[in-house]
Amino acid sequence: MKPTLKNDLFLRALTGETVDRPPVWMMRQAGRYLPEFMEIRKKYDFFTRCQTPELASEITVQPIRRYGMDAAILFSDILVVPQAMDIEVEMKPGVGPWLPNPIRTASDVDRAIVPDVQETLGYVMDAIRMTQEKLDGEVPLIGFAGSPWTIFCYCVQGQGSKSFDKAKSFCFAQPEAAHALLQKITDTTIAYLKAKVQAGVQALQLFDSWGGMLSPEDYQEFSWYYLQQIIDALKDLAPVIVFGKGCWFALGEMAQSGAAALGVDWTVRPEQARAFTGGKITLQGNFDPARLLSPPEVIRRKVHEMIRAFGKDRYIVNLGHGILPEVPVEHAGAFIQAVKDYKG
Ligand code: CP3
Repeated sequence: MKPTLKNDLFLRALTGETVDRPPVWMMRQAGRYLPEFMEIRKKYDFFTRCQTPELASEITVQPIRRYGMDAAILFSDILVVPQAMDIEVEMKPGVGPWLPNPIRTASDVDRAIVPDVQETLGYVMDAIRMTQEKLDGEVPLIGFAGSPWTIFCYCVQGQGSKSFDKAKSFCFAQPEAAHALLQKITDTTIAYLKAKVQAGVQALQLFDSWGGMLSPEDYQEFSWYYLQQIIDALKDLAPVIVFGKGCWFALGEMAQSGAAALGVDWTVRPEQARAFTGGKITLQGNFDPARLLSPPEVIRRKVHEMIRAFGKDRYIVNLGHGILPEVPVEHAGAFIQAVKDYKG
């Protein structure tokens, strides 16, 4: 059961209501930089943390208790989806995601399954229900998934990469097999996000972290085509936010997609993002995460400038990508507080 929300500012910004100040949360706020998270991290490996609802829900509410952001994001990872599809994923300390058997052929694609999400990812739904109990209606909970293209990048490359050359080469050399895999990821993601909404998340975010690796034309074919399917399937169930890193060139089309909001990174000016999207859709972003290493008074000033540039309405304050692990806790606090103190 979802308790009545005490703070619905985030949901009101998503529907475009006039607000006194914009809501604020930070991508990757759960984990990474918080000392209370590092304590849990010492004791349990990454996927144990994801798969244990007590731990995942605790990590989710930690930043809310410390800073009082206007939305919580469930602690999990985008790579639980390929795991559920029978594609092995490990998290190697110091390396990051590591797939021992990356997908390189059409028969590898055939072996990937479209799973029953309750069976394979039921632990995520349990974590959502447990988190909602802990939040007790304080703020809304965001559920998320990677975009099919971003998931595909890891499945084929086998690890993080500066170029994702093997992933792109699979698309260009074996387009049919690539599309078959993208469609399987899409079908799994739609079922997964529907289950998340049913379990109690109040909004969804799609992370297209590697969309900017593609040319605008290839983006249409290998990323956007699948994101649009997900938006179509989910938009009447929950507001959908699409964050495409490096995807400013697609903002015009994204604004017509039925998404409730679009995330933007720091390489685009707020005024340009507004112009590309016709000024009607809610935008989210776009503070350079490295700017949280500036002194707190600079952070404060720049946050206020950013709000003035986007405008306080149809706007959600966020970073332009995930928070960096080395950000001092007081600097993250200054970022959140600056938004709460914003006056016209
Ligand atoms: O936003 C949140 O705080 C919720 C939790 C969350 C995690 N991963 C936890 C995590 C979310 C939303 C993600 C999404 C994710 N995971 C993305 C998309 C967002 C982005 O940053 O672009 C991507 C590309 C991944 C894949 C992934 N997972 C990588 C590249 C890594 C290693 C490097 C890193 O980011 O730290 C992970 C591991 C991971 N996912 C950690 C956390 C807290 C760190 C590992 C650990 O805690 O042991």
